[in-house]
Amino acid sequence: MEKLRRIINQIAYTPTSQSLSTLPPLHFPFIPLLFLSSSLYKLIISFRHTLYHLNFIHKHRLPVPVISVGNLTWGGNGKTPMVEFVANWFANEVRVSPLILTRGYGGADEAKMLQRHFNGTSVKIGVGANRAATAASFLNKHGFIYPFDIACFEESVQKSRVVSEKIGVAILDDGMQHKSMFRDLEIVMVNALSPWGNCHLLPYGPLREPLTSFNRADAAVIHHADMVPEESLSIIESEILDVNRFLPIYLSAMTPSHFFKAGNTSCQLRLGVIYGKSVLCVSAIGSPSSFVQKIEKMGPLYVDRLDYSDHHQFQEEDIKMIKARLEYLSYKFGSKPTIVMTEKDYDRDSKILGGFDPYDVLVLCCKLRILNHSGCSEDSFKKLLIRSMC
Ligand SMILES: *[C@@H]1O[C@H](CO)[C@@H](O)[C@H](O)[C@H]1NC(C)=O
Ligand SMILES: *[C@@H]1O[C@H](CO)[C@@H](O)[C@H](O)[C@H]1NC(C)=O
Ligand SMILES: *[C@@H]1O[C@H](CO)[C@@H](O)[C@H](O)[C@H]1NC(C)=O
Ligand SMILES: *[C@@H]1O[C@H](CO)[C@@H](O)[C@H](O)[C@H]1NC(C)=O
Repeated sequence: MEKLRRIINQIAYTPTSQSLSTLPPLHFPFIPLLFLSSSLYKLIISFRHTLYHLNFIHKHRLPVPVISVGNLTWGGNGKTPMVEFVANWFANEVRVSPLILTRGYGGADEAKMLQRHFNGTSVKIGVGANRAATAASFLNKHGFIYPFDIACFEESVQKSRVVSEKIGVAILDDGMQHKSMFRDLEIVMVNALSPWGNCHLLPYGPLREPLTSFNRADAAVIHHADMVPEESLSIIESEILDVNRFLPIYLSAMTPSHFFKAGNTSCQLRLGVIYGKSVLCVSAIGSPSSFVQKIEKMGPLYVDRLDYSDHHQFQEEDIKMIKARLEYLSYKFGSKPTIVMTEKDYDRDSKILGGFDPYDVLVLCCKLRILNHSGCSEDSFKKLLIRSMC
């Protein structure tokens, strides 16, 4: 072994100016092998370099700052509510017009919801799989302002009162997987109720790659943080910090804001409207209990529930069953019960709601809120957002 190393060393340190023939004949058989290894290594390096280079060329850089809201697991991680939170803040407080770039997957019900929420505001919503092309057409149509023209200091955030229609920031929905666009800030959402999907933390499991992507992140946000015990949050936090111990970790939760009447979104009602009434919660979402719990807190007389599986498409027999339950509740309480559903269900299939006359159907709207948590608050989160603009 020692002899082999000496030979390799000798070959490696023989300057090119000196003919290889000066080496002892015993060394000759090694030369082709070493040469081959070296070439292979070089090939790998250059291949990686080429990949990087290609990636670099294809990495689209928008003329405005890009904030990406990404995920590591499926569904329910608060990506869309976070996109909405960020867009709202830029539009209302920084007074910069944001462009949301979304793929519009899942029957586009998320895009529909965003369009409704931001109707009549300076927020623009670009829907399409090719986000670079979508961004280009919006930037072309509305124009844009350079980031350095925007107030980079907090004091000036309050002072600036003029809202420009020109786009000042782009927000990427589900940007983590969309690597071809350059981002200035990468936010990763984690679902506290099922942090790493249904896969366990196995050393060679599929989780390895996604967890390391916390190294690319600028902030992690643990969503539905109000629905799990403190210990679970600590575990998730330490798992994230194991990968990136400098990553700021925020907590978020969904807070009910108001209801609207099904079929008339401009008819907004306060949460107290169901106080003292009998209510039937109908939902087809990932965590129906969280929805029902929120309704129970509003002080209704009685809460009944019909839970369907996530993304369930309501059929004729479901409608019959819901009606039967409504009639039973009317009989039991001597007054008409109110049907309550989530916005997600409403956007998936708003037609089915026509069939419940004479019962009122209310749709619950919720907003994302950043919780106070060991130095990470809504204020520090907003500072992080503004830093991406500078
Ligand atoms: C993130 O969510 C999107 C849409 O829900 C999904 O397509 C994507 O695969 C998810 N990412 C991971 C790593 O699971
Ligand atoms: C936006 O509001 C206008 C009226 O203000 C309405 O006609 C239109 O349907 C709304 N669009 C969406 C997507 O809600
Ligand atoms: C929708 O609600 C608004 C506000 O309550 C009301 O003025 C309007 O007449 C309603 N529209 C319809 C079609 O019921
Ligand atoms: C968080 O803390 C700040 C002060 O640091 C306080 O003003 C605010 O009300 C708190 N927010 C919540 C939701 O408790």
